[in-house]
Amino acid sequence: MIPYEIILKKRNGGSLSTEEIEYFVGGYVNGDIQEYQMAAFLMAVYFKGMEGKELSEFVRIMVDSGDRVDLSGIEGFKIDKHSTGGVGDTTTLVLAPLVSSCGVKLAKMSGRGLGHTGGTLDKLESIPGFNISIGKEEFINIVNKCGLAVIGQTAKVAPADKKLYSLRDVTATVDSIPLIASSIMSKKLASGSDGIVLDVKTGSGAFMENLDDARELGKVMVDIGRNWGKKMAAVITDMNQPLGRAVGHTLEVREAIDTLRGKGPADLEELCLYLGGWMLTLAGKVVDYNEGIELLKGKIKDGSALGKFKEMIIAQGGNPEVVDNYDLIPIGKYMLDIKASQDGYLSGVKNAKLGMAVGSLGGGRQKVEDKIDYTCGVLIEKSIGDKLQKGDSIGKVISDYQDKLTDILPVVEQCFIISTEEVKPVKLIKEYIY
Ligand code: URA
Ligand code: CA
Repeated sequence: MIPYEIILKKRNGGSLSTEEIEYFVGGYVNGDIQEYQMAAFLMAVYFKGMEGKELSEFVRIMVDSGDRVDLSGIEGFKIDKHSTGGVGDTTTLVLAPLVSSCGVKLAKMSGRGLGHTGGTLDKLESIPGFNISIGKEEFINIVNKCGLAVIGQTAKVAPADKKLYSLRDVTATVDSIPLIASSIMSKKLASGSDGIVLDVKTGSGAFMENLDDARELGKVMVDIGRNWGKKMAAVITDMNQPLGRAVGHTLEVREAIDTLRGKGPADLEELCLYLGGWMLTLAGKVVDYNEGIELLKGKIKDGSALGKFKEMIIAQGGNPEVVDNYDLIPIGKYMLDIKASQDGYLSGVKNAKLGMAVGSLGGGRQKVEDKIDYTCGVLIEKSIGDKLQKGDSIGKVISDYQDKLTDILPVVEQCFIISTEEVKPVKLIKEYIY
C-alpha cells in the first residue's frame, strides 16, 4: 500500500477499507507513516468525514493500538461517564460517589487537565494524600469493596489517540465529529465499562458550538458504543458558561462536597442528578431517568452520597477529614473582585480564555512535569441573563500570590461579555439521545 494513495482516496471523499486504515494508523503509531502524511489525512477527514463502517473500524484499530482494560474481576454492572470537555466541570467528583451510593459500580479512568480544561485527576490529587496511581489488582479490589475508584488512564489505553490528539491540536483538526468521536470512544471502549453516559457540551466553550453538531456527535458516539454491545446514552448540555460557581482545583473539590450535601450550585446539582439518573437507567437500577433522579436526591438527603465520597477518599489514601474541614483543602489567601465593565446583562463567558487564565495563574501546566497550584481559581457569582451595573462584582479571582492576581484580573474581566440588550438565561440541559 502507498500512503499517498490512501490520503488521495480520503481527500476525494472515498471510504477506506479496514486494511487501508490498519496500514495507515498502524504505520503512524510505529513511525512508518510521517507526521505530515497523517496531518494531511486528518485534514481530509475533517472535510470529507467518515462512513459508519469505516469509522467503527477506525475506532477498533485505535483501541487495538493498546491494551483493553479487563474489568471482569469486578462483579456487577460497571457504569462510566464522559464529558466532551468543559470549564469548571465538577461533575465527576459529584457523580462518582453519588451514583455509587445507589449500588452501581464505577471503575473510572480519568485524565489530567488539557488546554483550557481542568482534569478530574488533578482535582482529586488536590485532596491531601489522595493517590490516583494504584495498581490494577488493587483498583479492582477497591471497586469490589467500596463500589468505586478513580485512577489515571495509563499510556497503554489507546496510544494511537494520544499521538493523534497531539497532532490534531496543532493542525486545526480537533473539532471534527468523526475525529472527536473516535478519540473519545476508543479510550472509553478500551477502559472496559458496560455502559457509558456521554455529556456532549455545546456552546462557546465547547468543541461543538451549535446544537446540530453536538447532536450529531452524540449520535455518532452512541452508535459506536452500541455496536460494541455497550449500553449508551448521551445528554446534550450547555457550555456557554462554566458549570457551577467554581473553576480551579480545591475550589471545585469544595463545590463538589457542597453539592453532595445538597448545598451546591443549582446548575451543577441539576446536571449531576440528570446524568446520574441516566447512569442508573443504563445500569438497570431504575426504569427511567426520572426515577433515577428521585433515588439520587434521597442519597443526598440521607447523607449516603457524602459518606461514599469519604469512603472513596479513605480507600485511595486521602484524608477524609477534608469533607468536614475545608481548611484542609485550602484556597488562595487573596481575592480580587471581577467587576462589570459597563451596565447591561451578562450575555456570555469566554470559557476557553477563562480556563487559560486560571491555567496561567498556576492552575494549569505549561509542561507535563509542571506542578499545579491547586489553590487558585475563579468563583463566579453571576449567570448569563443577570442584570449588571458597571462596577458590580461578577465574581472573584483567587490566589496565594497578589502580584499574579493583579496581572490576571483584566484578562479575567474581559472573559465576561456584557450586552446592553436584555438576555435570557440559558437552558442547561438541551436534550438526550437514547
Ligand atoms: N476529548 C477527547 O478525548 N478527544 C477529543 O477529540 C476531544 C475531546
Ligand atoms: Ca464548577
